[in-house]
Amino acid sequence: MKNNILVAYFSATGTTARVAKKIAEVVNGDLFAIIPVKSYTEADLDWHNQASRSSREMQDKKSRPAIANQVSNMVAYDQIFLGFPIWWYQAPTIINTFFRKL
Ligand SMILES: Cc1cc2nc3c(=O)[nH]c(=O)nc-3n(C[C@H](O)[C@H](O)[C@H](O)COP(=O)(O)O)c2cc1C
Repeated sequence: MKNNILVAYFSATGTTARVAKKIAEVVNGDLFAIIPVKSYTEADLDWHNQASRSSREMQDKKSRPAIANQVSNMVAYDQIFLGFPIWWYQAPTIINTFFRKL
C-alpha cells in the first residue's frame, strides 16, 4: 500500500496503461490494471463496424463486461485515479462493471 493512493486503469491497446504507470510513479500509488475476462481483439475494437464487440457494448446501457481481477483492499485507499480510453465519447462499459464491484 503506497501512500493510500490507487491508480486503476483499463487499457485495450496500451495508451492508458502507459499514462497510468507514469501517474502511479508520480503520486507513488499502487497500480491496478482492470483485466477483462475476455480480452479485446482488434476486430472487437473496430468502431467502423456496428456489429463489433465494442460497438455492441457501447450501444447497450446494460453491458457489463466481466472483469477477471479485483482490488484487494479498496477501503484502504483515500484517493483513486481511474484511467480509461474514451469509446464513443464515454468510458468503456467495463468501467461500469468496475464501479459495480466496489
Ligand atoms: C471502440 C472505440 C471507440 C473510440 N471512441 C473514441 C471517441 O469517441 N473519442 C476519441 O477521442 N477517441 C476514441 N477512441 C480512441 C481511443 O480513445 C484511443 O485510441 C485511446 O488512446 C486508446 O486507449 P488504450 O490504448 O488505453 O486502449 C475510440 C477507440 C475505440 C477502440
